[in-house]
This record gives sequence, structure tokens and C-alpha cells, in this order.
Amino acid sequence: MGNDVKYYVEDDSSMTEILQSDDRLVPDAHVQGSRKVANRSMFFRRWLANPLQMGSIVPSSATLCHHIVAQTQYKPNEVVVELGAGTGVISRALLAGGVPADRLIVVEIVPDMADHLRRVLPGVLVIQGDARQLPALIPEHCQGRIGTVICGIPLVLLPRDEQRRFIDAMDAVAPGKGFLHFSYCATSPLPYRHHHLAAKREAWTPLNFPPASVWRYTPTG
Ligand SMILES: C[S@@+](CC[C@H](N)C(=O)[O-])C[C@H]1O[C@@H](n2cnc3c(N)ncnc32)[C@H](O)[C@@H]1O
Repeated sequence: MGNDVKYYVEDDSSMTEILQSDDRLVPDAHVQGSRKVANRSMFFRRWLANPLQMGSIVPSSATLCHHIVAQTQYKPNEVVVELGAGTGVISRALLAGGVPADRLIVVEIVPDMADHLRRVLPGVLVIQGDARQLPALIPEHCQGRIGTVICGIPLVLLPRDEQRRFIDAMDAVAPGKGFLHFSYCATSPLPYRHHHLAAKREAWTPLNFPPASVWRYTPTG
């Protein structure tokens, strides 16, 4: 190209370099920024170290992030909480979608990833810790003022009593709100009746590796 700027299509989990004009093109600097956030090599290394904790070998795709952002609600006095933020691709999409940095709280158990999140998400409260301890992690003044909890932790891989610990922790800080959860399963990743939850599949996309659904779970009790 004449001006030596490379362009890429940003429409799925991989970014394809292309050489012609298109309104979906994003400039090189933006792609470099996205790659820096996604940090695929860190993600993959963590998967090798602990596949059950990571649940995926690559970060969520731009399309899946877009669906999650579209389902995220918050009122002017509320915050958004993301659990299992990984390398921050959903967090970054939330910011791009209009969530102010000082209204976003992300929780990540892996210390290196939490350090990375602090670097790439200026102004966001990044908490390194175990989401099962949420009431001890989320600042008191934010508890009960959470618009949406997004759970990126692979709950489907856990036994039911462990799933319950995460569900109870989310309900303790966001009573009655339920949570968004994404999963690669064909059906609900949680036995929702067992957990006294209503389940709704809000979105599905093949443009993720693997194809993924966004579920909304709401307490029925
Ligand atoms: C499937 S990855 C999702 C990463 C990112 N949200 C994305 O969509 O690319 C799951 C993430 O949950 C984190 N995680 C697993 N168990 C956790 C826990 N108990 N508390 C907080 N984070 C946890 C993992 O370290 C990993 O970063």
C-alpha cells in the first residue's frame, strides 16, 4: 500500500491481513493494540499450565466480545464486574462499548494475567484473586450496585458443589441479578434447575474458537 499502513479485517478470533479498501478495515496500530491486549502466547501458556482453569486455548473472539457487550446492562450508579478476565479482550470491548473505566471491575486469579490487565486497562480496578471469595474482593460500596456480572470462568468443567460456590459468591455481591456466562457447549453449561436458576441463551456465534453461546442465568428462588 502507498502509505505503508497494513490493514486487517477484525471479524473473528483471527485477524486477516488484507490489501484492499473495505469499511471494516482497521488500521495497523489498532490491530497491534488488540494483539497486545489479547496476548495469545500468555493465554496459551496458561492453558498448558492449567487447562481446567483456563477452559480455552485462545482468548474470546471480537464477535463473542461484541455479543457479551450487547447483553451488558448498568444504570448510572452501577458498576460492571467481569470474572476471569484473562488477557482482557472482553474488558477492552466493554470499554470500547461505553462502560467508563472507573465503572469496570475485573477479577482474575492468575497473578501474571492480573499484572497484564493492569497494564492494558488503565483506570479499571483489577483485582487478583479467586472469584469464589467475591464478597471479600469487591469494594463494599460497590456491592449491591452491580448492573451486570460477566462470568468467564469455565464453570461447566466443575462439579456442581463447586459451581454453587461461584453462583453464591456472585449472588452475594449482586443479589437477585444473576449473571452472563459464555460457553462452548451445545446446551446450557450449567444444570440450571438444580441451581434454582432460569437460563436463556442470548446469543450464539460460529465466529469464535470454539463456537460459543452467551447465556443469561437469573435466580428463580
Ligand atoms: C475461558 S478463560 C476467559 C478469559 C477471557 N475472559 C476471555 O474471554 O478471553 C477463563 C479465565 O478465568 C480465570 N479463572 C479461572 N478460575 C478463576 C477463579 N476462581 N477466579 C478468578 N478467575 C479465574 C482463568 O485464569 C482464565 O483467565
